[in-house]
Amino acid sequence: MRLFGNFRVGKRSERAESARPSPAEPGDRPGEVIEPPAAPGRAELTALVRSLAWWYQRIYLGHGVYSLDTNGYPAHHEVTWERLKPALPDDLRGASVLDVGCNAGYFSMHLKMRGAGRVLGIDNMEHFLKQAAACARIWNLDIDYRMMDAHRVADTREAFDLVVFAGVLYHLKNPLQVIEDVGQICRDAVLVESEVIADDPRNCVYVRQGPPGNVAVRPCQKGIMKFIERDELNGDGSNWWVPDAECVLGMLRTAGFKHFSVPIYLTKNRLLVAASKSEHSLLDLTALA
Ligand SMILES: C[S@@+](CC[C@H](N)C(=O)[O-])C[C@H]1O[C@@H](n2cnc3c(N)ncnc32)[C@H](O)[C@@H]1O
Repeated sequence: MRLFGNFRVGKRSERAESARPSPAEPGDRPGEVIEPPAAPGRAELTALVRSLAWWYQRIYLGHGVYSLDTNGYPAHHEVTWERLKPALPDDLRGASVLDVGCNAGYFSMHLKMRGAGRVLGIDNMEHFLKQAAACARIWNLDIDYRMMDAHRVADTREAFDLVVFAGVLYHLKNPLQVIEDVGQICRDAVLVESEVIADDPRNCVYVRQGPPGNVAVRPCQKGIMKFIERDELNGDGSNWWVPDAECVLGMLRTAGFKHFSVPIYLTKNRLLVAASKSEHSLLDLTALA
């Protein structure tokens, strides 16, 4: 992908890059770099990046300036996007998008440039929303960014065709509540990326299960979520729960999603899955592989 810049690519990314040029997303052709239409000069951009630090997302801002230096390697959200792209239509034809935990707006911007109509990005950190607003300005994109906790997502009182739920599930105190709320306001499909418990045959909890009259403590290997009370995960007190893949799928089913892509492990501990409510989704779930 070239919209937000060049990075060193491994075999997988090279394959993804040459997959299909998209008219709705200039800069998608191999080797092509698109300059943002409203970028100020290099010195001003450099000062802007510094003034808005700290950045989590790497976004290209023009004149060779990125929001974040990853030594030429793709950041996690870029890897996620490359894997997601085949499932998306070349032209989203005005579909509405909600980006939960939008950060600096990487996914919101990409989807807008791919033909999305209304795009709403929500985040609970003002700092990231300022970054998002600056990036959208530079890329001349009409995106609505709003300070909102994901636990209040139902307050949007809107329906969205597509919901992006990347890197946010494990940050939630009440993940099932939020996923069910997303299920209520999502008309079609959700893209979920999350920290997960690695798939491992040693995973096991012993828990009472069974029908009435036959309840017994039984080993249970899947459908598990670990509570993070303090900052045990990466020293980050904003992490609350780490589910396994089956738990993520089960919560999505509970929220009304019925059709699923193959769950993809971006790393041992990061899961990517797409789900839709009906067979006829704007996403091609079979293309996620
Ligand atoms: C790991 S980053 C992921 C950012 C982006 N979605 C991505 O995948 O690159 C988590 C983002 O979720 C936001 N976030 C965490 N908890 C949230 C909450 N309760 N409500 C809204 N946003 C939240 C953080 O501020 C941060 O921008």
